[in-house]
Formats: sequence, structure tokens, C-alpha cells
Amino acid sequence: MTAAISTTGRRFSPENVRLAKVMAQELGIPYIARNRESIEELREQHGCSLILVAKRGLLVLDTPDGELFFHPNMAHLRLKNLRLGEGDHMVTAMDLRAGMSVLDCTMGLGADAIVASYAVGSGGKVTALEIHPFVAAVIGYGLGHSLGDNYDMHEAMRRIRVLSADYLDFLCSQPDRSFDVVYFDPMFRHPLMESANLNPLRGIADHRPVSPEAIAEARRVARHRVVLKENSRSMEFERLGFTEMVGGKYSRIRYGVIKV
Ligand SMILES: C[S@@+](CC[C@H](N)C(=O)[O-])C[C@H]1O[C@@H](n2cnc3c(N)ncnc32)[C@H](O)[C@@H]1O
Repeated sequence: MTAAISTTGRRFSPENVRLAKVMAQELGIPYIARNRESIEELREQHGCSLILVAKRGLLVLDTPDGELFFHPNMAHLRLKNLRLGEGDHMVTAMDLRAGMSVLDCTMGLGADAIVASYAVGSGGKVTALEIHPFVAAVIGYGLGHSLGDNYDMHEAMRRIRVLSADYLDFLCSQPDRSFDVVYFDPMFRHPLMESANLNPLRGIADHRPVSPEAIAEARRVARHRVVLKENSRSMEFERLGFTEMVGGKYSRIRYGVIKV
């Protein structure tokens, strides 16, 4: 996919121009000085399907399916539930406790990584991988620079280490038993279309199914658990050897657990 980076069309600040130029260099894509062209005009003029925009000190990815941006609110309710002692199915499936380390193989928009980071606390460690370099850039930059709703969320966001990488390559490069939990939340085989926040991701995300090889590597790298999130009726759990399930009775989402 061809891509470029620019700023907003009006009232762009020198800081945003600087950010766009730095990211252009980092990502190896052209910087386009913006006048008053619309995103559509930029797409046509420069033959790009994806345009990154430096906007209000953050990055937005303009895709043909809408804008992808970092939004801390996606984890807001889940952190609130954890604070109130009401739990979270993902945290239960991972059996997270303070000080643990988590490898989130599929960062996407970063909500699960924030919840995991909050659950393991300041003594824990979350590494989040995302194969799409622009998704990794937008969400990674947001986690590192956007304000959390409150101090705890803010700190949880800042502690996440983001890498743009293929999880299979990354897993193969890790020593045995180097993370407590290895987590996969792939694009579902049968998507739940009501998850509208994932819409801008659908056209650009990597949709390949998780391979048995990746699960074998995850089992080697995990000390405690391997967890897979999928549609509750998915056959992926069986195919990949997940026999224990966690999730709400009426929820359309399940977490498959392998205890290692
Ligand atoms: C459903 S989204 C994850 C959503 C995420 N858990 C959240 O809370 O926002 C799946 C993401 O995994 C990424 N992905 C798929 N295959 C990957 C791979 N082999 N390595 C790294 N990331 C991958 C996709 O590009 C997509 O962004």
C-alpha cells in the first residue's frame, strides 16, 4: 500500500509539521506539505491509499474505511470495572497479577494492552506487537503521548513497549519462558460487525489465521498461560488446542486458555 504523511489542511502548527517530518523519516514515507487540499485530493495527487496526518500533536491514519486514531476511552470502562473489583474476562483468562509480564501479539488499537498494563501494574511489563507499521505508529505514538483519563490509565499507557513486528518472527526470537502470558486477539474469522471501532482497521489489518506453529512458539515462550480471544462460536479454539474457556455466558466473545 502506498502512503504519505501530512498535516491538517488548516491551522496546522509548526509542532505538527515537525512531527509529520520526523515520522516520515522514521516510517520511510514521503512528507507532503499541505495547503488546503482535502485528503481525497491528496490521495489522487500523490497516488496514496493511506495518508497519515499529524493532528493536534498526535497521528491519525486516514484509510478508505475511515480514520484510525488512538482513543484511551476504549479501555476506560474496563479499568473502572477493575478498580471497582468487578473483574475483566481477559484479565481472568490471563490470570494476571501485579508484576507479571505480558506479550500482546496483536496490539491493534491498544485497548487490551492498556488493560493488561494496568492489571500488572508498575512492576509488570507489557510488550505489544503490531504487524502494520502505520497502525503501530499511530497507536504507539498515542500510547506514548496522549493523556490518559486519569493517572493510573496514563501510567499504564506509558509503560507499554510497542514494536512493529510479525508475532511469529518475534516469538521465534525469544528465549523459552520469557513472558508470563502470551496473548492473541486476531481479526476474527467471522467478524462481529457491531465492533464499529475496528472498522478503519478491517481493510488494512493482517487477517491471516493464527497458525499451530505460532501457538507452539507461544507455549514455549510463555511461563504461565497462552490466551486466544475469538468469537464465542469460533472453531479456532479447537483447531489450535484451546480447551479451557473464559467469558460471560451471553457474551459473543470468548477467551481460550492454555495453561503451560
Ligand atoms: C483484532 S485486532 C486487535 C485488537 C486489540 N486487541 C485491541 O484491544 O485493540 C488484531 C490486530 O493484530 C494485527 N496482526 C495480525 N496478524 C499479526 C501478526 N502476525 N503479527 C503482529 N500483528 C498482527 C492486525 O494487523 C490487527 O491490527
